This record gives sequence, C-alpha cells and structure tokens, in this order.
Amino acid sequence: MHGPSEPEASVSIVITNIGELVGADEERWLMRDAALVIDGDRIAWAGSAAEAPAADEVYDAGGRAVLPGFVDSHAHLVFAGERAEEFAARMSGRPYAAGGIRTTVAKTRAASDEELGANVRRLVAEMARQGTTTVECKSGYGLTVADEERAVRIAAGLVDEVTYLGAHVVPAGSDPDEYVRLVTGEMLRACAPYARWIDVFCERGAFDADQTREILTAGRDAGLVPRLHANQLGHGPGVQIAVEYGAASADHCTFLSDADVTALADSETVATLLPGVEFSTRQPYPDARRLIDAGVSVALATDCNPGSCYTSSMAFCVAVAVREMRMTPEEAVRAATEGGARALRRTDVGHLRPGARADVLLLDAPSHIHLAYRPGVPQVAKVWRAGLLV
Ligand code: NIG
Ligand code: FE
Repeated sequence: MHGPSEPEASVSIVITNIGELVGADEERWLMRDAALVIDGDRIAWAGSAAEAPAADEVYDAGGRAVLPGFVDSHAHLVFAGERAEEFAARMSGRPYAAGGIRTTVAKTRAASDEELGANVRRLVAEMARQGTTTVECKSGYGLTVADEERAVRIAAGLVDEVTYLGAHVVPAGSDPDEYVRLVTGEMLRACAPYARWIDVFCERGAFDADQTREILTAGRDAGLVPRLHANQLGHGPGVQIAVEYGAASADHCTFLSDADVTALADSETVATLLPGVEFSTRQPYPDARRLIDAGVSVALATDCNPGSCYTSSMAFCVAVAVREMRMTPEEAVRAATEGGARALRRTDVGHLRPGARADVLLLDAPSHIHLAYRPGVPQVAKVWRAGLLV
C-alpha cells in the first residue's frame, strides 16, 4: 500500500510519428509530424515529433491522425426496450411526435435498476469504442419521483455529466399543472443531489414557455444549471428562454427565426445540433452555416435515445453535418470535441493541450477529414480515456 506521502509513480507514454495532431495547440488546431505525451491521466506535452521528450513507453502512430476524444453533450441512455417499429413506421410516412416518449417510459418503469444500469454501461462502452470519451446523460423516462431519482442516480455512477429531465413529457394520466408542481418540488429535491444540469423539453406536445420558465427557475434555485431542448419540432420560444436563463446550451435548434439566431450569437449559450435526429425523423436539418456565419458557438452531439435517434456514433454525426448542414470537416470535428466541451462548460476535455484529461483518439486514417470523407467506415484504431486504453 502506498500512503499519501508516497504517490504511485504514473506511467508516461509518448505517441510519436503522428501525421496530424488535432486540438493540441490554441493557435495551431492542426499540427503535422507531431508527438503527444500522456503522463498518468493528463496530457503533459504536445509538439513537433523531432522535439518530443522521452517517456516510459513509446507508441508509434505510423503517420495516422490523433484527435481529442469526442464529447457527446446530449444523450438519453437510462431506458429499457426499443422502438424499431416506430422508426419503420416513420420511414413509411408517419411523422415523429413527442408522445412516443411514453412508450419508453412504460418499459423503463418496469425494468430493474440492474437492467437500467446495464443498458447505460452497454451504450457508454459502445460510445467509447467509437471514440467518445465524455458523455452527458439525461433522465426523463421515469417521470415519477422514484423513477427519475433512480435514473439520475444510475447515470451519476456511469457518465461524466448528469441532467435532470423530469420535464421530458407530462406522463399519461397526469394533470399538467400538478406534474409541473412535482417536477419543481419533490422530484427536483430527490434528483438535484445527483445532477449538475436541468433540462426541459420545451415544445408543442411537451412543455410551454410558462412551464419551462417555472421549471428552470426552480432548478436554478436548487443549484442546477439550465440547458434546454429547444425548437426541435417547430418554431417556438425555446431558444429565447435558453438565452434568457443563460443556459449552457440550446439543443436541436432546427427551426430558428432570425431573432433566435441573433439572440444565440449575442449570448454564451451554445447551439447543440443533433443531426442524427433529423436523419432518423426525416426532418429538415438545422442550418449550421447560418448559425456559424452569425457567430453562434456550435456543438454536435448524438442525442442517443430509443425514439428520435438511436445512434451512438459521433463520427456519423460529423459526416452528416458536413454533407447535409454545410459544415466544413474542421468545423464539424471541432463542434464534436471543443464545442461539446463548451456546451458542458468543461475546460479539461475536448482538446489535447497540456493539462487536459488524456482522452485521445487514434484514427486509422491520416487526417480528421476522413471522418466525413469515409462515412460509415470504422476508423478508430485506439482510444485512451484519462490515460487508460479503452
Ligand atoms: O431529444 N426531444 C425530446 N427527447 C428526445 C426524444 C426522446 C424519445 O423520442 O424517446 C430527443 O429527441
Ligand atoms: Fe434529447
């Protein structure tokens, strides 16, 4: 046993012969012929391969690209069952509606803690194999005090960032006003100890502007920081409320007015775009170009959930964002790494500058462009999370 005065010596690894090192320098987002040193769970050094310091272990990247691990800042992983039939029906013309959430709620309530934990572990592992090293996870398929409390408790043991989303939808058979009282009262008190964030599905068929403000205010008073599902299914007040509350992020942003874009551009709120949702619901994609050109800070995330989008692949989201949303490969990869970190107000992930958590993705490809250029192709060679191989 080592006492506190005798810390275990951490192992250092130098990754050499990196063809393209991404996100390791504020001024030079892309670095050629580079090396990276991991010391324990942190990045210790980044720079030219020719100047790399010695380390305990050497790993030759063989000219391939090294990136920060993806930051998936929006996912709903605590659920049971699946909705493949609903997806198939959608692909033959049935539109997506918020009410589908209730199907998953019934299955989730019937599942044991062990089953729910196993589902989160399975998806976090699936994400890690695809290069995602930071995961945000929401509750929202329990919708009773006990079921929401266990959702955030289970998530808190398995992911980096936990969001209380009791306000996902009004459960079947509940009175909306009474449900909002529960979400802002007893349910909030039960969930707040396990969560950092509060989220509301502000949308027709879910929660309106007054309800959203009431819920965010209560959450803020309980020490949680707002983020919001906003403007996913149509135009509405979500984005404006997100900005008004200083939310870390407004997520979806599919239907935006000029005033919404201006409000985001003048704020610290990140617009988190979830192109897998539009892919899986046959909706129009959000206009990333319009947001970026207006000066809005943009993130990409999966929204992994059994209803509107069941992908866990950030690479897929990058490819779709480039092809369909007019983002450049560089913009999309930045949005999937440093953008996600900003949406979670994290400075230790989403980049590879010295001091960052050693979340490192080695691609089986010479550059980050290949993520969009070779859609659907597995290109993850190795992933380190906090310095440990996944
Ligand atoms: O982000 N918009 C609300 N929640 C999820 C969908 C959840 C579901 O359909 O089960 C989303 O798209
Ligand atoms: Fe969502």
